[in-house]
Amino acid sequence: MKILVINGPNLNLLGEREKENYGEITLEVINNDLKQLANELGTEIDFFQSNTEGEIVDKIQQAKGNFDGIIINPAAYTHTSIALRDALLAVKIPAVEVHLSNIHAREEFRKTSFTAPVCIGQIAGFKKESYLLALRAIVNYLR
Ligand code: DQA
Repeated sequence: MKILVINGPNLNLLGEREKENYGEITLEVINNDLKQLANELGTEIDFFQSNTEGEIVDKIQQAKGNFDGIIINPAAYTHTSIALRDALLAVKIPAVEVHLSNIHAREEFRKTSFTAPVCIGQIAGFKKESYLLALRAIVNYLR
């Protein structure tokens, strides 16, 4: 089983960016913890981060035939991107949407997700733990 973890714009700045919303942990730490959990669960895992919408669309398209599941934090594109939604729909790879913060408890514009309706589910508000929960969820789903 192979899982692809996709992180969208500005998530490369975790650890220094809006610590009150996203915590002090870097993306590298999150990815290392995910890798360790993937080992425990006996699944392969790969990581991709981009600040560019089209690159994320390309990555989702390339995942077809190469990955069984996707964990995606589309970041700000959550609230704007029909292109990401369409890419997820097109490849039909089961996906879990994650957010570090509880997007439903923040500004109005963050309460809308274009991508969540085409995912199995959404996990939001648990900071780093959101990703680890998502990995457990997708592995359980695929098994
Ligand atoms: C985020 C929430 C988004 O609204 C925001 O644009 C982000 C991060 C989160 O993980 O909480 O960049 O996806």
